[in-house]
Amino acid sequence: MAFAVEMAGVSKNFGPVAANRDVSFGVEHGEIHALVGENGAGKTTLMNILFGLMQPDSGEIRIDGKPVTMESPRTSIGMGLGMVHQHFKLVPSLTVAENIFLGMEMTRGGLVDRKAQSEKARALSEEFGLQIDPDRKIHELSVGAEQRVEILKVLARGANVVILDEPTAVLTPQESRDLFRIIRRFADAGMTVIFITHHLDEVLEVSDKVTVLRDGAVVGTRATKDLDEDTLVKMMVGREVNFDRRDRKQIDGHTVLELKELFARDDRGLPALRDVNLKVRSGEIVGIVGVDGNGQTELAEVVSGLRAPSHGEILLEGKAVEGSDPRHMREAGLAHVPADRLVRGVNPGADIATNILMGRQHADPWAKNGVIRWGRVRDYARELMQRFDIRAKDDYVPVKTLSGGNMQKVVVAREFSQHMPLLLIDQPTRGVDIGAMEGIHDEIIRRRDAGAAILLISVQIDEVLALADRVLVMFNGSISGEVDPVTTTEEEIGHLMAGGSRSKEAAA
Ligand SMILES: Nc1ncnc2c1ncn2[C@@H]1O[C@H](COP(=O)(O)OP(=O)(O)OP(=O)(O)O)[C@@H](O)[C@H]1O
Ligand SMILES: [Mg+2]
Repeated sequence: MAFAVEMAGVSKNFGPVAANRDVSFGVEHGEIHALVGENGAGKTTLMNILFGLMQPDSGEIRIDGKPVTMESPRTSIGMGLGMVHQHFKLVPSLTVAENIFLGMEMTRGGLVDRKAQSEKARALSEEFGLQIDPDRKIHELSVGAEQRVEILKVLARGANVVILDEPTAVLTPQESRDLFRIIRRFADAGMTVIFITHHLDEVLEVSDKVTVLRDGAVVGTRATKDLDEDTLVKMMVGREVNFDRRDRKQIDGHTVLELKELFARDDRGLPALRDVNLKVRSGEIVGIVGVDGNGQTELAEVVSGLRAPSHGEILLEGKAVEGSDPRHMREAGLAHVPADRLVRGVNPGADIATNILMGRQHADPWAKNGVIRWGRVRDYARELMQRFDIRAKDDYVPVKTLSGGNMQKVVVAREFSQHMPLLLIDQPTRGVDIGAMEGIHDEIIRRRDAGAAILLISVQIDEVLALADRVLVMFNGSISGEVDPVTTTEEEIGHLMAGGSRSKEAAA
């Protein structure tokens, strides 16, 4: 039988960059196919070509065995394809249903029939177990829910081939499991799924087949059952990657950050932080874990100056800074890698060097008498590109043309190189490949050893356990306990994440 989707000999260049080189692969009906490879390997480009967002320089696309030209997404949607992008494209001020039917509104007597749209969206959501309320506004939703809206949007357009570009990068482990359940339902219904991910455990868990890309070319397509993680890593990176836990240090540094009796409300005015007390010392990594929505986001916002606490104190290097805006927090000694690189992390239209300079354009040694010293800035940007493995031709490349993982590396490079006493890192390795992740972990340890106080928040519990000197668990806006990352167990952490109040002492 013909493949549901086939790409044959597809090549695509961006100037001197060969993003795809003679790529061929096929996906059968009802198959879940994973597409993996390092940052910049060409995964997103390949799927953009399949979806008609870009034209290949050469090669062919076949749907059910028939050669087709994907002139635009309109063509591919007409052929039953749907794509959920690496960075979502929803309109925050509109409702779920309005977003889903954007551009294909259901009308009655010449007017948009909101009720019918809402009912149709609800029916689809129920059919595939997506648990979405069609009448909520997008800006009220969690990232996980936003993504399910993107999926609904694709379903509403009649897709039977669903392409997901790093769907789990922004999800918590629980949300990822929910998503896999949904993906399996698609496959059971005979639909075809192609998904991109950097999480190899997910590849092994949910896919039927895997295609590995390296430097734009196919390394191979294999049945998942014939693969293990080591083999996959070697195919992707061409070397082995070290996942060992890092050395811990005896910590005797002074207190850099102290939160005292901190309370804050969320966007809806409900209590989000309740009596949070914690200290981060120089030379120490304090990790925060918890089920998403238990106050981690608000904690990061309060410490970075994006949200004012309703009560309590924040001391940074001994100075009371609660209620300061982000600029003043930075002046007081904060560097910050935000969870969402596109919203708060980068200026996408500007080049790499400009993004590296961001926030320092008036400071020594980068400016003199109000004039930016571009020679210096560019030399420095190139040095960081090398150190943080940012893959681009040079520092003049606009950040928006970088692959997702390489954009993340730009933010990390800028913030880590500021040598601030406090480093707040929210989801440091979101979207970065396994080799680059190792590099970022090395840099986190390097900053710690240089005396930075580091507050590390990640939905990847393994990442926190591998790096942190102390781990605090959050539940319902409070710290429900502290665990020793070296000796703790999954049960102990799980218990605290679910609201159990066992302390380290009690558990010992
Ligand atoms: N519009 C563009 N203009 C110029 N170069 C581009 C453009 N889009 C992608 N590239 C380049 O093509 C290469 C492949 O990028 P692509 O986004 O496909 O990688 P990826 O495998 O999806 O990586 P990631 O895992 O980081 O998302 C990269 O070198 C990238 O910088
Ligand atoms: Mg990508």
